[in-house]
Amino acid sequence: MIDTQKIRNFCIIAHIDHGKSTLADRLLEATHTVAPRAMRDQMLDTMDLERERGITIKLQPVRLDYEGYTLNLIDTPGHVDFTYEVSRSLAAVEGAILLVDASQGIEAQTVANLYLALEQGLTIIPALNKIDLSSADVVKVEREVVELLGCAPEEILRVSGKVGTGVQELLQAVIERVPAPVGASSDPLRALIFDSQFDEFRGVVAYVRLKGGSLRAGDQIRFSASGAVSYVLDVGVFKPQYVPGVTLSAGEIGYIVTGLKDVRLCQVGDTVMHGQGTPALPLPGYREVKPMVFAGLFPSVGDQYSLLHEALDRLKLSDAALVYEPEHSPALGFGFRAGFLGLLHLEVTQERLRREYNLELTVTIPSVAYRVIIKSGEVKVIKSPLELPDQSSIDHIEEPLVTLDVVAPQSYVGPVMQLVANRRGQYVNTEYVGERVIVHYRLPLSSLLVDFYDTLKSATAGYASMNYELKGYVTADVVRLDILVADERVDALSFITYRDEAYERGRDAVTALKHVLQRQQFEVKIQAAVGGKVVAAERLSARRKDVTAKLYGGDVTRKQKLLKKQKKGKQRLAEQGRGKVPLPPAAYLTILKHHS
Ligand code: GTP
Repeated sequence: MIDTQKIRNFCIIAHIDHGKSTLADRLLEATHTVAPRAMRDQMLDTMDLERERGITIKLQPVRLDYEGYTLNLIDTPGHVDFTYEVSRSLAAVEGAILLVDASQGIEAQTVANLYLALEQGLTIIPALNKIDLSSADVVKVEREVVELLGCAPEEILRVSGKVGTGVQELLQAVIERVPAPVGASSDPLRALIFDSQFDEFRGVVAYVRLKGGSLRAGDQIRFSASGAVSYVLDVGVFKPQYVPGVTLSAGEIGYIVTGLKDVRLCQVGDTVMHGQGTPALPLPGYREVKPMVFAGLFPSVGDQYSLLHEALDRLKLSDAALVYEPEHSPALGFGFRAGFLGLLHLEVTQERLRREYNLELTVTIPSVAYRVIIKSGEVKVIKSPLELPDQSSIDHIEEPLVTLDVVAPQSYVGPVMQLVANRRGQYVNTEYVGERVIVHYRLPLSSLLVDFYDTLKSATAGYASMNYELKGYVTADVVRLDILVADERVDALSFITYRDEAYERGRDAVTALKHVLQRQQFEVKIQAAVGGKVVAAERLSARRKDVTAKLYGGDVTRKQKLLKKQKKGKQRLAEQGRGKVPLPPAAYLTILKHHS
């Protein structure tokens, strides 16, 4: 058993590319955790996909032995959709290295994770990285950090993960500044799950921090929230590879081969306790994660529906947050309506399906999870516009709200304000750190779904970074906009929009449709309607055959008679043609791509 006074648990928080993985590699080297020959660049980074996308690199947890101390380094998921998971990782440690690229300065991810770390009461060790670069502006960035943290400049370490400068000092600072964990092995077992993996051979492996008690293979365990009970197959630590066959005690970090086959029974944030006796009090902070963004996933080629089904079933084994159900679209065929934590979760899933399962997908424009409060008091979460009940039965509708932090140079505040205002954002306040600003807003999650990040980037010449966090639900005056072609509602084209935007969006939709639909022998009405009331309409005129072409001379009455006859015929055709207008896939895509 390790003396808890000799344990330090910490993580590194940093914005994308500020050098977290490189620094972690140096820490492994400096502590001789990995033999230099076994060292490859970015040893701890396991997810190639994320690395390539540059979203984030999640490091493998690792135990470092250094000068008689056991230093456990774990990582936080680096992207916005996983705030809850980040908070659980932070709850598993006592300290955080706040790593800031000295050539870049503070960015949104730095700020967001710092706030979360402070909420957990962690000790923060600020460090400027990449000081070897000639473009590093140590003085300027140091000022930003001082203003952000309210710390003394002397507390800020200067390192270069690339060259190795300051790495020993950083390890010393971890030992000196991060408090030892509290909790005793004699306490009842309470282990916080901060991550979990699914392994084909081992089943579900839980990554845990023991807050109290001890645990070894063979013990019976209970998962507080899910209620699952099982026998521990193995217990081990990360070096960074799994080292099995140990006993974990209070204050330590390691893994449990749980014997479970379903990750949903082993949720991040849940507490593992002993299976027998009176259950201990679960650790605080557990939350069930719910999908917030829904989109249709359809195979783009051939009939790959069953392949997609299989792939989703497999992904779900390791991704407890992923939900899906079959959906059929007249244009896109058979597919699934899937729920995600956010846009990046959707993108990563799509990318994994493509790479790991060779599936090309058509993804419909995502929409958020609206909560519909029915007059009877019942609450329904709707995943697709068609699930919206009849307007008359609805008391009100609520939509997810987020807090948004944008970090940008001061000169770009104007364009940022403009963009957020256009997206129904509400300004909260501004913080100044050095020459940068952190502007806080509240806005509907739906405002972020279409192009927000790209628009922000182009409005600020790439300088702004952003982070958002879900903050609950607010009442929203939204309606379902239906699209009717030849008087028939086209289910797949309905979408939810704000009432005050319904006209404009209806207008856009019918105009766009008019350009992709083919003319028929009769006139086709294209309408956008809310609750049966038409808000915008277009007419696609009939293919015209010149019935009077054969007539020459001045017999006007004859000509009129013929035209009249033709008109009558077209009216009849239009009536017969109700709902018979073929909609090419392009027509669906026009709408699905224009609207959410
Ligand atoms: P994400 O996990 O994607 O957020 O990246 P990261 O923070 O782990 O950054 P990573 O370690 O991948 O480093 C990003 C880039 O910066 C790489 O090209 C590194 O080689 C470079 N880099 C990291 N540390 C240093 C440093 O101290 N000096 C210099 N000059 N370059 C560095």
